[in-house]
Amino acid sequence: MALEITPDITEQLLDALVCQGWFEWPHAVTDELCQALLDEVQFYDEEGALQKAGIGRGQVHQLNQEIRRDQIKWLNGSTLAQTTYLQQMAQLQYQLNRALFLGLFEYESHFALYKSGDFYKKHLDSFRGQANRMVTTVLYLNPNWQSDWGGELVIYDEASSCQLAVITPEMGKLVVFMSEQIPHEVLPTRKERVSIAGWFRCNNSIGGNIDPAL
Ligand code: OGA
Ligand code: MN
Repeated sequence: MALEITPDITEQLLDALVCQGWFEWPHAVTDELCQALLDEVQFYDEEGALQKAGIGRGQVHQLNQEIRRDQIKWLNGSTLAQTTYLQQMAQLQYQLNRALFLGLFEYESHFALYKSGDFYKKHLDSFRGQANRMVTTVLYLNPNWQSDWGGELVIYDEASSCQLAVITPEMGKLVVFMSEQIPHEVLPTRKERVSIAGWFRCNNSIGGNIDPAL
């Protein structure tokens, strides 16, 4: 099994989410699965199947190149690599619900490709009371990432005043954080940088429509 949710790591993850709101988990997913997912993204890029990412939902959805520059494609479970990854996220969802009673009922996720110079400015994935994204996951798919290539994920405290962590996007690393609580940012990258961003949602959606363009 690619993602070993051992009792030990589960405890560390749950403790960290409760106490600090975020958790960095190196080597959470095998290189083999990451490579298969990375190959998919490179294929989509060559085919022109990635779309420029936007911000906001529904009517306020807009392309804003000053805020984010990545290109995305939503996972739909159409390949073995995707279903394997989605199964692992389902295991994680089960553990989060069991221990934290979050009532997570759904997971949505997209591949994201940041080309050289791309970034995503400081933001929250979900606003308290408005949306239903509860927990964010980010899996990195970049083999042999060098520390001077930029593209780090910066995690801020809730008040957004100080940096809590600067995380390099190495292949197999999974970062998990509370969507309403943790402001974060992707620093400009100097190399192609690929990730899968995903969100566990709870069932209080207003109308239940997901805007696939977000
Ligand atoms: C996002 C995001 C972080 C990353 O897509 O909302 O914050 O490191 N991604 O790719
Ligand atoms: Mn985000």
